[in-house]
Amino acid sequence: MATIQPTGEILGATVTDIDLSRPLGDEEFATILAALGRYGVLRFPGQKIDSAALRDFSRRFGTIQTSITGKHHDPEVPEVGILSNIKVNGEYIGIPDAGQDWHTDMSYRDLMGFVNVLYAVKVPRRNGKPLGNTLFANMHAAYEELDPALKERLANMTATHDFNKFWENMRQRDGSPRPPLSPEQRAKRPPAVHPIFMTHPITGRKVLYCNPGYAVRINELDEAESDRVLEHLFAHQLQPRFLYTHVWSENDVLIWDNIGTLHNAIPDYGPDEHRMMKRCQVLADRVFQPDFLPPSLRQAA
Ligand code: SIN
Repeated sequence: MATIQPTGEILGATVTDIDLSRPLGDEEFATILAALGRYGVLRFPGQKIDSAALRDFSRRFGTIQTSITGKHHDPEVPEVGILSNIKVNGEYIGIPDAGQDWHTDMSYRDLMGFVNVLYAVKVPRRNGKPLGNTLFANMHAAYEELDPALKERLANMTATHDFNKFWENMRQRDGSPRPPLSPEQRAKRPPAVHPIFMTHPITGRKVLYCNPGYAVRINELDEAESDRVLEHLFAHQLQPRFLYTHVWSENDVLIWDNIGTLHNAIPDYGPDEHRMMKRCQVLADRVFQPDFLPPSLRQAA
């Protein structure tokens, strides 16, 4: 049976005594789901897992989103994306700048993201020290610590999230390989509207569901006031007391809950310091269904 060891920090736990390359039993999966809700970020060290098994494990959480560019995935297993700064014949073998600012995945879709699953194939190191950490922020804690008057004011408000905001921010960076989104690509990713505060489907507690990567507007406020409040929320949710750093090792599988956390991949490595991750992005199409959670978790939610 899996052993869960919390980090003792604001997020994170390490899960051992489990082999993700084989199908998980219902009880094991329920243990993982409960830990995911509670700790937000789970590390499974020392996993030996191929793309097909990574996809199968990820699918337990819901449907996997595939890329709109049609590039940078395992040719045999298109649900598994490749993130990498490695070039072969002058071309990147993966997305070189994925996730390199604060955001949460797929908040720009009506059907938001639930879980990301990353498998570390190559971790850059300098003088023995791992680079390319991923930072996380705890949105259960950010909600709880928000000023009560602001909680009340925003209680029934919504924010619009736009895929193009993050894409354009990345494009403005020196040397960005990203072209502008084509009209067809924009049409495939229209902005989405979500409540600013959501009830988390596993914990049953409220989270602050708003992030600097994609949120562009609070719909119930005029533009200037929306900008002011968004800036306030972004500064609030990224305070050091809410943050956790994951330091990668090869063969880590890391999964995180996109509803209850934000994340940011730190690009502190050079072009010759190679990083490669395999990634599945899982949509929240199953987690909100009444029969998805095991009975032990239904009481919490
Ligand atoms: C992501 O945002 O999914 C990528 C995170 C990472 O590469 O560390």
